[in-house]
Amino acid sequence: MTQRTIKSLHDGLKTHDGADVKLTRIIGQPSLKNLDPFLMLDAFGTDEPMDYIGGFPPHPHRGFETVTYLIAGNMRHQDNQGNEGVIRTGGVQWMTAGRGIIHSEMPEQTKGLLMGFQLWVNLPSHAKMSEPKYQEYEPEQMPIERHDNGAEIRVIAGTTYLGTTGLIKNEFVDPTYLDVTLPAEQCFKQSLKTDETAFIYLHEGEVQIADNSLTIQAGQLAVLSAGESVEVTAYQPSRFILVAGSPLKEPIVQRGPFVMNTEEEINQAMDDYQNNRF
Ligand code: FE2
Repeated sequence: MTQRTIKSLHDGLKTHDGADVKLTRIIGQPSLKNLDPFLMLDAFGTDEPMDYIGGFPPHPHRGFETVTYLIAGNMRHQDNQGNEGVIRTGGVQWMTAGRGIIHSEMPEQTKGLLMGFQLWVNLPSHAKMSEPKYQEYEPEQMPIERHDNGAEIRVIAGTTYLGTTGLIKNEFVDPTYLDVTLPAEQCFKQSLKTDETAFIYLHEGEVQIADNSLTIQAGQLAVLSAGESVEVTAYQPSRFILVAGSPLKEPIVQRGPFVMNTEEEINQAMDDYQNNRF
């Protein structure tokens, strides 16, 4: 089995988005513009209400999917097609924006910790104008695999080495999305398709991949080399997400919340949005 190693390491960029929500942009910033099929990864985490209370008031999306996964706090979402709900701690929402939605994402709390990730996953050209849809799961539904060594794996998408399968179905990029908690000195292993894109974002702790001399520090994203499996060893108690998916290998033309294949399609998206055709 070919072991994956660290191909490159990236620090996030501290920024703000929505109504002044403080976040760290890890994919979708100058040092890592995108990582086909992934367009953006934001990590947010603060217990200072002023840093999140403004939330993300109504805004559009077209041409890709947004994945919101919360590890603390609650967020309410509401869209222009009458869908509404609350994503709770440990829950996930995989939203296929397709041809377009306008939605808001607002904290369902006025104090305490709000922490989680938003990942943008591109859609292939044939699905960019598909009907919007949601896959949304409560924390109680999330499959959790516990190992004898103390490792705990929350399986959002894909199948673990030991055969636990996640909730999300996606035929376009066949994603894997695992939230892994690993005690110090312990090891975690996962099979991957040789050529799919894969990364690890370390939320806390310090880990090493295979026997690479580099370590990943908290707040860093490691893009992994090609290979059939990845092995992670924790130096300290650690928590990370492992995300993988098949690259789409199509042109990416992005303007803010619209991600299409051509300039014409972007102009059409702007025109449709401005003329209330979302
Ligand atoms: Fe959004």
